[in-house]
Amino acid sequence: MSKKILITGGAGFIGSHVVRLFVNNYPNYQIFNLDALTYAGNLENLTDVESSANYTFLKGDITDEDYIKSIFETHQFDNVIHLAAESHVDRSITDPLAFAKTNILGTMILLNAFKNLWQDNWQDKLFYHVSTDEVYGTLGETGLFTESTSYDPNSPYSASKASSDHFVRAYGETYGLPYVISNCSNNYGANQFPEKLIPLFINNIINNKSLPVYGDGKYTRDWLYVLDHAIAIDLVFHKGKNEETYNIGGFNEWQNIDLIKLLCVQMDKKLGRKEGESEKLITYVKDRPGHDLRYAIDASKINKELGWRPSVTFEQGLSKTIDWYLSNIEWMERIVSGAYEDYYQNQYTK
Ligand code: NAD
Ligand code: DAU
Repeated sequence: MSKKILITGGAGFIGSHVVRLFVNNYPNYQIFNLDALTYAGNLENLTDVESSANYTFLKGDITDEDYIKSIFETHQFDNVIHLAAESHVDRSITDPLAFAKTNILGTMILLNAFKNLWQDNWQDKLFYHVSTDEVYGTLGETGLFTESTSYDPNSPYSASKASSDHFVRAYGETYGLPYVISNCSNNYGANQFPEKLIPLFINNIINNKSLPVYGDGKYTRDWLYVLDHAIAIDLVFHKGKNEETYNIGGFNEWQNIDLIKLLCVQMDKKLGRKEGESEKLITYVKDRPGHDLRYAIDASKINKELGWRPSVTFEQGLSKTIDWYLSNIEWMERIVSGAYEDYYQNQYTK
């Protein structure tokens, strides 16, 4: 069956993997990638699919209501996979309003355009909202986030994502808009912007720069290889039940400091450095305000209902990720200049 799918944020980290998977696996679908190309959006991530017959790039901002209205009228998208967002917690602490604008208002503008176009005929329509496990707040030493865990966000980023999730549900309840939501744990892999822990530390190790560990380094995250997230999104999109939420996670909890030490060991080997060389770069720095202690996902629902589980171990995924960055040094070098340098100075030297 043919579909016209609008994927938002497709030039970003996760979005680019989702766009590639849909363009390559579904030649009958028309894939429209809408992205504002903020500092996090990079069309270089998609050069391998940019000339595919079923792919169109649209440069635009989800907060620009007139523009969004006009592209829905022109292209009549029957499905939306919404990933566009401001996504970095540290940036949300410095500039919370930017997060409210893109993540809340931008999502509402998309929902509204979708509703206005299809409210008389919802058949075969779907609004898929891609969200985060951070909406659930923080866990203590034990327990897992399930789909029925109450929302309790702590950062401006997670509060804005939580709010957007609520609006998606509200459009479902109020207008009958068909939707699914997935809440995923920390992703890693190729093409991730080097402000997030793993690519930042890979880049710093390559350049012999210090590795800034927040607080005592005992914070815990549940890591998932980005291609496994893209595969989960494909499954939820095609087989997820209307008005349901699916938690997606790696079954893979790591305290930051242990993950960083593993990364250092793998980097030393790949760079031909003496064992223990990279670990010497570890530097404890002031903590992130409101830092969530632990995230861990119970992914048994998507496992049982849709048959999904991660396909690679963390050691394999991390090794592939490092290899990608080492073979794409120019990708990193083009990013780590200009505005990024200002961000870095502001975040780590004040
Ligand atoms: P990213 O920051 O790498 O990419 C975001 C993309 O959205 C960029 O291409 C950017 O240009 C685009 N964008 C930003 N503002 C826009 C606007 N106003 N209009 C149009 N495009 C805009 O983010 P990511 O890590 O790929 O995350 C994608 C989505 O997945 C987000 O919704 C995020 O909340 C969610 N998520 C991320 C993770 C993770 O670990 N990275 C985990 C769970 C959920
Ligand atoms: O859980 C899903 C979320 O994961 C996504 O929704 C977010 O978009 C994504 O950015 C990510 O959020 P985190 O805050 O968990 O990721 P980050 O890579 O920023 O940090 C991971 C952990 O590492 C966290 O405990 C903070 C710590 N950290 C991070 C940086 C950038 C450091 O110790 N030092 C650093 O320099």
